[in-house]
Amino acid sequence: PVLVVDFGAQYAQLIARRVREANVYSEVVPHDLSTEEILAKEPAALVLSGGPSSVYEDGAPRLDPALLEAGVPVLGLCYGFQAMASALDGTVEKTGLREYGSTRAQISDRDSTLFNGQPEEQSVWMSHGDSVTEAPSGMRVSASTSGAPVAAFEDDERRLYGVQWHPEVMHSTFGQRVIENFLLRGAELPGDWTAGNVVEDQVAAIREAVGEDQVLCGLSGGVDSSVAAALVQRAVGDQLTCVFVDHGLLREGEAEQVEEDFVAATGVRLVVVDAKEQFLGALAGVSDPEEKRKIIGREFIRTFEQAARDVVQDADDEHPVKYLVQGTLYPDVVESGGGTGAANIKSHHNVGGLPEDLQFTLVEPLRALFKDEVRMVGRELGVPDAIVDRQPFPGPGLGIRIIGEVTEHNLDILRRADAIARHELTEAGLDGEIWQCPVVLLADVRSVGVQGDGRTYGHPVVLRPVSSEDAMTADWTRVPYDVLAEISTRITNEVEEVNRVVLDVTSKPPGTIEWE
Ligand code: XMP
Repeated sequence: PVLVVDFGAQYAQLIARRVREANVYSEVVPHDLSTEEILAKEPAALVLSGGPSSVYEDGAPRLDPALLEAGVPVLGLCYGFQAMASALDGTVEKTGLREYGSTRAQISDRDSTLFNGQPEEQSVWMSHGDSVTEAPSGMRVSASTSGAPVAAFEDDERRLYGVQWHPEVMHSTFGQRVIENFLLRGAELPGDWTAGNVVEDQVAAIREAVGEDQVLCGLSGGVDSSVAAALVQRAVGDQLTCVFVDHGLLREGEAEQVEEDFVAATGVRLVVVDAKEQFLGALAGVSDPEEKRKIIGREFIRTFEQAARDVVQDADDEHPVKYLVQGTLYPDVVESGGGTGAANIKSHHNVGGLPEDLQFTLVEPLRALFKDEVRMVGRELGVPDAIVDRQPFPGPGLGIRIIGEVTEHNLDILRRADAIARHELTEAGLDGEIWQCPVVLLADVRSVGVQGDGRTYGHPVVLRPVSSEDAMTADWTRVPYDVLAEISTRITNEVEEVNRVVLDVTSKPPGTIEWE
């Protein structure tokens, strides 16, 4: 793989994604790995990330010069660029010329490896206090900015490259080209990593790990569990049994997407547990959000455990159910500091709080993938678009989108209103802009309205369209008024229990995305 050496800022994961967008497989590693440890991973190239430090601060992460002499192509970005300069014989100084945000870079060598075919001036995104004032010997300076006389250097012989700016952020107009040029021209990598290869590799790895034994998978209807299941079924066919707990809190059409479309498209063997009545019974009379979440979580585990026990008991003794599929993604792996994304099987002793008699080894076929790659793999496997493109949807489902009691009646109202909003937002082409749009029924609130000739006393629904990168922070999406008008008109006309549609214009923080 290409290794992205993380110098301690938020950029490393983004860089890894950009490298993969150039069809080159990459993984993030911490900067405190030794040179031997890094080289033992046989990197095809290294990308050194930015970071918050200054190269001459005490305790600033150092770059071992030996890493630059190992014959591995290296691209240093921002702090990584300065670390390269100081590990070689360049000069890094605090010049007093800080640059933050967008600025113009002058490309002085447009035939160079990094800037081949790009304009002489380009917009780049910077964030630095120190500057490289003298390039290391043997390095050609190929760009400058007003605050950084040496803003890029290149050495084709040693295959060492660096830029002061952040080519990985989208504000650097030619950033992706710079990264691609390094990978494909500088490091001469083939650029042949695709969703198709991922499927092939994972299918082989899963077969090898699982052998003849049986595998269990809990399907939620979401992207991750569906794609993970489709991959495992491609590898071991009917050795896989999927369990779908229908808790009755999904949106319109979603249970059918799993039970019919997904099964038809992938051939997965599916056990459906219809637990609607059980969940509604347990939720009766409950309005408190935390209590609802607890009840839904508890009932879910209970139901899944029972279904898992049945599957375990039905399996023949020679081929017991030994494995459980989980849709863990690469960002979770990186964030939990957990080793390499390439390993897709790890043993785990107490999976998600399952009891003693249900002990499985985890199969995590998506452990090396980012969300958009999971979607690509899903498409490659023929998982229906409605599932692959599904927006994030919380595990407790519509249960936490009804303010008040979760009843069959309230669920039915919310489902119809939600279906209209989703349809209109999709029709308006806003799915790319909107991270998710919860529709919330205020079952505890009533307001007076007038419809036809009569007075109404109905419920409001709230539209909560948000734009976000990762759900940690979010802004409310500026949905065009015409689209809002259409949604409002249709909901109040077609869902008679609803007489008002309101828009939530709160960012996160202070509001969360969901209302409960
Ligand atoms: P909040 O409301 O905390 O939500 O801003 C952040 C993201 O997480 C989703 N969410 C959940 N997902 N189980 C889940 O699987 C949950 O209990 C849960 N609660 C919130 C929410 O939809 C948003 O994408």
